[in-house]
Amino acid sequence: MKSNVFGIAVMPGDGIGIEVMEAAQTVLDAVEARFSLGFKFETIPGGAHFYKETGKVLPTDGISRASKNDAILFGAMGWPDIRYPDGTEIAPQLDLREQLDLYAGVRPIRSIPGVPAILAHPRTKEIDFVIIRESTEGMFASRGKGEIIDDKEARDTQVITRNATERLTEFSCRLARRRRDQKGTPGRVTLVDKANVFRSFAFMRKVFYQAAAKFPDIEARHHYVDAMAHDLVMRPWDFDVVPMENLFGDILSDLGAGLIGGMGFAPSADIGDEHALFQPSHGSAPDIAGKGIANPTAMILSTAMMLDWLGERSGSSDTRAAALAIEKSIDLAYGSGRIRSYDAGGTTGTVEIGKIVAEAVRSGEADRS
Ligand code: NAI
Ligand code: MG
Repeated sequence: MKSNVFGIAVMPGDGIGIEVMEAAQTVLDAVEARFSLGFKFETIPGGAHFYKETGKVLPTDGISRASKNDAILFGAMGWPDIRYPDGTEIAPQLDLREQLDLYAGVRPIRSIPGVPAILAHPRTKEIDFVIIRESTEGMFASRGKGEIIDDKEARDTQVITRNATERLTEFSCRLARRRRDQKGTPGRVTLVDKANVFRSFAFMRKVFYQAAAKFPDIEARHHYVDAMAHDLVMRPWDFDVVPMENLFGDILSDLGAGLIGGMGFAPSADIGDEHALFQPSHGSAPDIAGKGIANPTAMILSTAMMLDWLGERSGSSDTRAAALAIEKSIDLAYGSGRIRSYDAGGTTGTVEIGKIVAEAVRSGEADRS
C-alpha cells in the first residue's frame, strides 16, 4: 500500500512539450518503483493545436480540473503559425497563472556537472542561484491595457503593490532559509530593481526591506538591474535567492539559462499559496519538434521541483528524497558522460535521456556515488 499518493494534472501542450513530458513521466514511473509514492495522472489537453481543432485553448473545465489535482505538470503551449484573429499567440499558461494566483515564478539556475560551460571561469561549476520572478503585476500589469495615442505616442504602465511585494519577499526569504538548511547556501536574498530612477521601484525596495525584517536570519540586499545583468555574467556564483519585478525576471531568467547551457537545462515552477505548476522554461520549439532530439532535462528537473514542493506541503520525506534522487541522477548521468544532449553538442535523444535518468533513479546509483 502506497503511503503517499498524489494527483497530478498533466498538460503536455504542443511540440516538444509532448516529447519532454513523456520523458519526465518515464522518470516518475521509476520514482514510483523506488519510493513509497504513487501518482494518479489526469491528462488535460490544450494548446495551439487544440485551439485550431476546437476554437478553445483549453477545455472549458480545464483549469478547474487541473486545480483539483495536487500539482500541475505543464509542457509548453503555443505555435507561431496558430494565432488568435488579432495576431497574438495563444498563452493558456498566463491564464493558469492568473486564475490560480501563481505569484512566484521560481527559476533555479544551477550548473550541471558535465554540461559544457559557457563561461571559462573555474567557479562556473559553483553556479547555484534562484530567480524569483514576481508573476502577477509589474510591467505585465499593462498586458492588454497599453494605449496608443494618435499614432504618436504609446504608453504601458507598471504596477507595484505592497501586497505582491510582501508575499514575494516572504516567499524568497523562506526559500533562502530552506536552501541554507538543506545545502548550506548563504541565506541571502537580493532584490533586483531600478530604485534610483523610478518611484515604483523605490517603493518596492522599501516594502522589501520591511518584509525581510521579519526574517532576521536572512541577509537582505538590493542590486540595480543593469548592474545585475553585468554581475550575473561576471560573478553569478555570488548570488542565492534573487527576487525581482516581472519583466526583469522574464529577461534575466533567460540570461541565467544561458549561463548553464541553455533552455533545455532551465526548469521552472509557478507557485502560489494554494496551487503550483511546474514547467520547463522553454517553449514548444517548432524547429526541432518531432525529431526526438529535444532535451528533456529542464522538464525532468521541473518534475523534481514538483516533488520537492509536494514534500514541503505534505510533510512527506519520501517526496523530498525522490526530488533529490532525480537531481543527483541527472548530475551523475551528465557527469559520467552517459548523457550528452543534442543542445550540448551530443547525440542522446529525448527518449534515451528519460530512460537513462529513470534507470539511475530506480537503481539508487546516484545516492551511493
Ligand atoms: P522555444 O523555447 O520554444 O525555442 C527557442 C530555441 O531553443 C529554439 O531554437 C529551440 O529549438 C531551442 N530549445 C528550446 N527548448 C529546447 C530543448 N528542451 N532542447 C533543445 N533545444 C531547445 O521558444 P520560441 O521558439 O520563441 O517559441 C516557440 C513557441 O513556444 C511559440 O509559440 C511560443 O509562444 C511558445 N512558448 C511557450 C512557452 C510556454 O508554454 N511556457 C514559453 C515560451 C514560448
Ligand atoms: Mg520568457
